[in-house]
Amino acid sequence: YEHGQIDGRPRMYTEMLEQPASVERALRGRLDERFATAHLGGLEMDARELRAVRRVKILGCGSAYYVGQMGASLVEELARVPADAEAASEFRYRDPVIEPDTLYVAVSQSGETIDTLLAVEEIKRKGGRVIGLVNVVGSAIARACDGGIYLHAGPEIAVASTKALTTMYVGFALLALQLGRVRDLSVADGRRLVAGLQALPAQIEQVLDGEERIAEAAKSLAAAESLFFVGRVRGYPVAREGAQKFKEISYRHAEAYQMSELKHGPLALISPDVPTVAIVPDDELTDRNVAALHEIAARGGPLVVVTHPGVDLGELRAERIEVPRNERELDPLLLTVPLQLLAYHAALSLGHDVDKPRNLAKSVTVE
Ligand code: AGP
Repeated sequence: YEHGQIDGRPRMYTEMLEQPASVERALRGRLDERFATAHLGGLEMDARELRAVRRVKILGCGSAYYVGQMGASLVEELARVPADAEAASEFRYRDPVIEPDTLYVAVSQSGETIDTLLAVEEIKRKGGRVIGLVNVVGSAIARACDGGIYLHAGPEIAVASTKALTTMYVGFALLALQLGRVRDLSVADGRRLVAGLQALPAQIEQVLDGEERIAEAAKSLAAAESLFFVGRVRGYPVAREGAQKFKEISYRHAEAYQMSELKHGPLALISPDVPTVAIVPDDELTDRNVAALHEIAARGGPLVVVTHPGVDLGELRAERIEVPRNERELDPLLLTVPLQLLAYHAALSLGHDVDKPRNLAKSVTVE
């Protein structure tokens, strides 16, 4: 069961479809409707210790790093604690300053990624406190951390990570909510986010139901040798993760860029042969994002736009993929799911083995 296909479908497909259930499991027993907060017992930190956190530093590799970036935004938005994510593979080589009032978070599906493990050990050697967001129970990273949150995604076998990533996102949302509610996040905002989180499993199902349309868009993208994934602020790590998934299994050159940076260079590459996948949620930046899309269209660049219902793209010629609305802070999760399907169908149409992409291992356990 754990290796190879199920019902003739690649593992990656089965794992994408499991996401409503795995997200539900990641949430189970951790939301407190009465106090509009989350309870993460595994953190082993009381309210006083959580209030003493002055900064959050997130470390992971590859897709775990990109979800870490989404997590940093959640922590800043909900708890107003400065937060950032860094590639764990770089961290220890720059002799990082370890601060006692920083909460370090190591994020890893396998719990065995050597670069993330060595980052944890470096922090601990210097007296820092590290918690883990890990899927595999009892793994090396889980054991090395001071406490943490298990993801409960279930076994993930396909090299291209899907269900583990969405549960990582949920883990960060729960952490940000709990950190926020011992600070200034109001009961009303807490309630709004609890309800938003509870709505996610059914909404992921809705996105997965749109597979046919996404598969069509994927075929046209697969024909291109090179493409851009663009987004801003909350949408940028979504674009990074989308490009990563696309590269891993379609072997196309997919580059993620901040939409705001396009005019500072990459616009020179836009042409009818270079499509762009744009992440355009309905948020504070929609108008600016749509203006940037016009710049791309004016240069003949084909567009696939992942957006919310009701976002007005004007006269723009674009393939439109919609995801349901949730609370703005939680948008990245639902925006990520169609990008998994895009990469999957692009790879299938190119005849690739999506579960065993060339040159890649499920977890990188040697330096
Ligand atoms: C995800 O699709 C990748 N295969 C890869 O980037 C992965 O996320 C990374 O190697 C980290 O693995 P981990 O979560 O097991 O630490």
